[in-house]
Amino acid sequence: MTLPRAQLLTAADRFGTPLYVYDAAELDAALARVRSAFGKGRVYYAMKANPNLTLLRRLRAAGVGFECVSAGEIARAEHVGASGDALLVNGPAKSAEEYAAGARLGATFIVDRAEEAALLPPRSKALVRVNPALAVSTHDHLATGAASSKFGVTPEQAPGVLRALRAAGHDARGLHVHIGSAIRDASDFSAAFARLAELRPQTGELEVLDVGGGWGVDADLLGIAQAAWGAATVFGAQLWVEPGRYLVARAGTLLTRVVGTKRTGRNFLLTDAGMTELLRPMLYGAQHPITALWDDPQPAAARERWDVAGPACESGDLLARDVSLPSPRPGDLLAVGEAGAYGASMSSSYLTRSRPAEALWDGTGWTLIRRRETPQEVWAAEVPS
Ligand SMILES: Cc1ncc(COP(=O)(O)O)c(C=O)c1O
Repeated sequence: MTLPRAQLLTAADRFGTPLYVYDAAELDAALARVRSAFGKGRVYYAMKANPNLTLLRRLRAAGVGFECVSAGEIARAEHVGASGDALLVNGPAKSAEEYAAGARLGATFIVDRAEEAALLPPRSKALVRVNPALAVSTHDHLATGAASSKFGVTPEQAPGVLRALRAAGHDARGLHVHIGSAIRDASDFSAAFARLAELRPQTGELEVLDVGGGWGVDADLLGIAQAAWGAATVFGAQLWVEPGRYLVARAGTLLTRVVGTKRTGRNFLLTDAGMTELLRPMLYGAQHPITALWDDPQPAAARERWDVAGPACESGDLLARDVSLPSPRPGDLLAVGEAGAYGASMSSSYLTRSRPAEALWDGTGWTLIRRRETPQEVWAAEVPS
């Protein structure tokens, strides 16, 4: 949590809860850390982490490009003025609409399978995604560079796919690798980049090496950058990176109010946010720091342990298990930290719940950057509505 408690209380009172709040200074600081570690490397923000237009505009104004994986994300990138070399179009099963939109905007495509040589629009710019088939230190669902992952082509196939792209008239600029998300062990990255560098005898020099993202918020960026530059140098290539989580996770906090408590052998603290606002704990067993924002006369040792549970009719609807918190009363406010990435972007209208509002603190004041949906907006696309 990067914002002072008083600011969080003000935001919750003003915009209601559940509410995502973002600290612009922390977003800027994360980008500065990436730039300082990767130097001349080109930064593409993986907007799946958080595609809010205000955050995208801020990053675009700072010279950051975007990695997009759907027609909707490409439309967002275009809407905030990104095109040409500021745009990557990725995905294991791109649609005709996504190829056409990417080509119209002059994007570079990340090719995920050999068949794409025949599917890409004429004379496309392309990188070939390589799956290094390594054990990756993260949750199974977050590993994309393991042998069982659906992404990319094998290292053995990659040089042939580069040749096939060129034979089909495309501008095959280089290789791409992204081994997963929230990766704990930095040596996973060096192993993956080294595996790609082994392909140099077959590929020759390349214009671009794109090493993706996947860095945990505490990642050793300098170590990752050193390994990435090492591989890029082997190819004589420019280095491109695609951080998502690293740029926005710490900047974001989910504010939720206590609805009540229940003691049934376990202590449940019931909140007005749950899986529909923050799916990560349920989807990946992700652990987010939870801070009580109410005054606590109790000594810490006397605190009880709580399962923080949301309002959905699903047993898995938990924000956290077994956390020590001071005695809660209805209306008290909790801050769920490191929630800026894959929080709002994965929120859903399941149960016809309105997706939460989002607000940005810019150092001087709060700005609402997404208003809370209404139930009518949730069903607006249904016909007849
Ligand atoms: C190809 C690619 N690049 C970058 C990212 C961003 O990953 P992270 O948010 O972990 O940095 C992803 C995430 O899924 C991805 O698939």
